[in-house]
Amino acid sequence: MAETTEPILEVRGLVKHYPLTSGILFKKQVGAVKAVDGVDFRLARGETLGIVGESGCGKSTVAKMLVNLERPTAGEIRYKGEDITRLSGRALKSVRRNIQMVFQDPYTSLNPRMTVGDIIGEAYDIHPEVAPKGDRRRRVQDLLDVVGLNPEYINRYPHQFSGGQRQRIGIARGLALRPEIIVADEPVSALDVSVQAQVINLMARLQDEFDLSYIFIAHDLSIVRHISDRVGVMYLGRIVETGRDEEIYDHPTHPYTQALLSAVPVPDPEAREHRERIILSGDVPSPTNIPSGCRFRTRCWKARERCALEVPALAVPAEFRSVSGPAAHDSACHFAEEKQVVPPEGEGEGEGSGPG
Ligand SMILES: Nc1ncnc2c1ncn2[C@@H]1O[C@H](COP(=O)(O)OP(=O)(O)OP(=O)(O)O)[C@@H](O)[C@H]1O
Ligand code: SF4
Ligand SMILES: [Mg+2]
Repeated sequence: MAETTEPILEVRGLVKHYPLTSGILFKKQVGAVKAVDGVDFRLARGETLGIVGESGCGKSTVAKMLVNLERPTAGEIRYKGEDITRLSGRALKSVRRNIQMVFQDPYTSLNPRMTVGDIIGEAYDIHPEVAPKGDRRRRVQDLLDVVGLNPEYINRYPHQFSGGQRQRIGIARGLALRPEIIVADEPVSALDVSVQAQVINLMARLQDEFDLSYIFIAHDLSIVRHISDRVGVMYLGRIVETGRDEEIYDHPTHPYTQALLSAVPVPDPEAREHRERIILSGDVPSPTNIPSGCRFRTRCWKARERCALEVPALAVPAEFRSVSGPAAHDSACHFAEEKQVVPPEGEGEGEGSGPG
């Protein structure tokens, strides 16, 4: 989508390090959990950016910093050009209203002792200017209707709903203040596969209806495929590859993205047969002890000496700079190569389409 216009959200050099301390009486910092270690991205108005990566790579920490539940150690979060990490008081409150979060687990993120009406309407206590007291009930009922729930359920409790319905309540709560940006942290991961598509379709419809911009977090590339315009792949606190949907899915150049794609379920049996399986060796290193050079090198089958010495920048790799094709997108790898891991549907060819 339009990347030339000013982004609604831009993140630069975002870092969150949690200090590791030892000692009981005299606490001394002995290291840091580098949960997020230098993340950059842009989000255009009306766009969906998918952020994907394995458990522990820092996705939720990024999300929490975007909605001000965590304070960054360093970096900027620019909302319409203004760095919101420096705001406080009324200015911060007004920005927070515009960036809302939908949480992963609809079972634990809704207070079991509150009615659905109180859960959705709670935000109006902090922002009465959005819905005057006499108007709240109607507002909440409208929101229930918008997310596909019966407005008469307003006095029910979370346990009276299914998982998918609870996530609809979570989404209604996210919409209550009419935000411009929704940060959805694995909104469908806790749901049955059959319900996931319904919730994703609902979010896609709401995006058009309310002119929303989304950050959509998932640990699996297949989940974000149909909702994102662009995707950023995270590994150990950083984005290692980012590009438009088709660039990432059909022309990945980073070995980690290629490995993730090779594990994605492929519905077409013909394509499945020709899909290449890449099994990564070893575990993800601890974020307290990040490898030198390329942070993916301890699991990369292509790693060479240079990978331990030089940090690869997230940029269009030199070999693709002169071409304008879909392989020319940002990839943090010294030896980036295009590789079609999953053949496009209907084609039986599974060979890498680039060099190598
Ligand atoms: N408050 C904290 N103190 C110390 N370490 C933390 C804290 N919060 C998160 N971490 C660590 O930071 C890293 C990133 O965590 P985060 O929850 O952001 O990952 P994630 O990508 O969302 O993972 P998941 O897919 O499991 O939700 C993990 O190693 C985690 O243990
Ligand atoms: S820079 Fe080296 S270790 Fe890192 S992804 Fe590329 S080839 Fe693998
Ligand atoms: Mg998480």
